[in-house]
Amino acid sequence: MSRFYATTPIYYVNAQPHLGHAYTTIVGDALTRWHRLIGDEVKYLTGTDEHGLKIQQAADAAGLDPQSFADSIAPKFADAWQRLDIANDDFIRTTEPRHKSAVSELLQRCYDAGDIELGVYRGKYCVACEEYYTEEELTGGTDCPIHKRPVDDYEEENYFFKLSRFEDRLLQHYADHPGSIVPEFRANEAYGLIRSGLRDFSVSRTSLTWGIPLPWDPSHVAYVWFDALTNYLAAVGFGDGTDSYKDWWPVDYHLIGKDIIRHHCVYWPAMLMSAGVDLPKGWAVGGWLLVDGEKMAKSTGNVVNPLDLIDVVGVDGFRYYVLADTPYGQDGDFSYEGLVGRYNSDLANNLGNLAARVATVVAKKCDGIGPAPSPDSPLAEAAATTLDGVTAAWDHVAPHRALDITWQLIRTVNAYLETNEPWKMESGSAVDAVMGDALEALRLLAILVSPAMPATAQEIWSRIGMSGEISAVRLPEAGTWGQYPGGQPVIKGDSLFPRIT
Ligand code: ME8
Ligand code: MG
Repeated sequence: MSRFYATTPIYYVNAQPHLGHAYTTIVGDALTRWHRLIGDEVKYLTGTDEHGLKIQQAADAAGLDPQSFADSIAPKFADAWQRLDIANDDFIRTTEPRHKSAVSELLQRCYDAGDIELGVYRGKYCVACEEYYTEEELTGGTDCPIHKRPVDDYEEENYFFKLSRFEDRLLQHYADHPGSIVPEFRANEAYGLIRSGLRDFSVSRTSLTWGIPLPWDPSHVAYVWFDALTNYLAAVGFGDGTDSYKDWWPVDYHLIGKDIIRHHCVYWPAMLMSAGVDLPKGWAVGGWLLVDGEKMAKSTGNVVNPLDLIDVVGVDGFRYYVLADTPYGQDGDFSYEGLVGRYNSDLANNLGNLAARVATVVAKKCDGIGPAPSPDSPLAEAAATTLDGVTAAWDHVAPHRALDITWQLIRTVNAYLETNEPWKMESGSAVDAVMGDALEALRLLAILVSPAMPATAQEIWSRIGMSGEISAVRLPEAGTWGQYPGGQPVIKGDSLFPRIT
């Protein structure tokens, strides 16, 4: 059995969980559910980023010490993921002991390798990014290019990671591993950052105490990005004194937003090279969901709470929308009208309608018992092509494509019913043949939508009379045509996706 390890960014606890965080977390959830479906042993990791100046400032503003402040916010992320049916296997907080050991270990390894040196930093710092900028990078010479507000002047003694030494090695690594960053145009952004020249980056702060002390000089605490990135190793046991982390490492995919390409595709692999740790196998970079053309973020004030939206379209309606509406990698535009529009067209009118009309005809024409499919159904080939296409789409971390291909099969089955009009036929073998095929197609569709919409998939599965949990089903075995047994009661049930008017 092969293993599949995927991660989300760990989210800063200065903000409440919002649509942008939910987006990346749902993509990772669907991807890892797909991998469980194809039989992989999966570890899906998310968590929270709790150290650094930004969190210290947010805690000060809330009148709490930073640990209590982090303790008050971290569970909101865990709860939000539970409500969105996220099946993460672990949730890491950077204030946990296991994380602190891993950070100490990684720092010490880079220091021992001679890649961390003491220096003085003078420069412009954006606290919201926890990042230094050069004047050329600032918008209008004064403002953070991401947060569009003035940066601060900083000067302090810092340890530096000698990133400038890694330019050739990083380019060589990516040349040797084409396709490791998806989609391609985001990979080009990463290569561009490396080619434009790498500056050493500071890995410690003396002006701050809210962080992990450097093992060789505890008057400094680790820079929050060095700290945060290490979570991906900490969660699989790095720093516990053994090599057990290699059971899961290297990670298959880091899911990240395009805002943190530099940290994940430049800093992180260089840190790992320095420390003698294998590099990630993949990075899957998402675009931003924009609201009124702006990135949703606490600092811009245009925050959409995903938990409000599930009251409108349900958990699976929301998951479907974020997965299907925006090609992963590109920016997407969130709108309430878009959410409801897609819900009505794709879920109410297509998938929901198909499930309802199949159950209705089986009730009226087949005494409520589902007939078996025919082995040489005209739908069999369409189903096989769909499975191939969906598999290829997930292989490229393209959920929108997996769903688009799946919805083509839904339309094909709906068209098949409209052509044959089983509701106009007399009960008998002709109706049974059509309805057996439609039920088999629904069985396959339930499997194919399960990574995106786990509860809906289970509901369809049970209603057509399939036994057990759909989460126990495995591809490719369950994907071949003709496995709907026939002879099971088919239940109509309430509308899966009532139209929203
Ligand atoms: O950067 N659209 O945390 P963060 C799409 N702690 N995705 C969005 C988004 C939007 N409008 N807003 C946020 C940090 N995201 C660090 C990460 S990892 C070692 C440390 C998602 O709370 C997207 O995945 O600012 C982005 O990269 C991430 O949230 C940033 O979350
Ligand atoms: Mg951010």
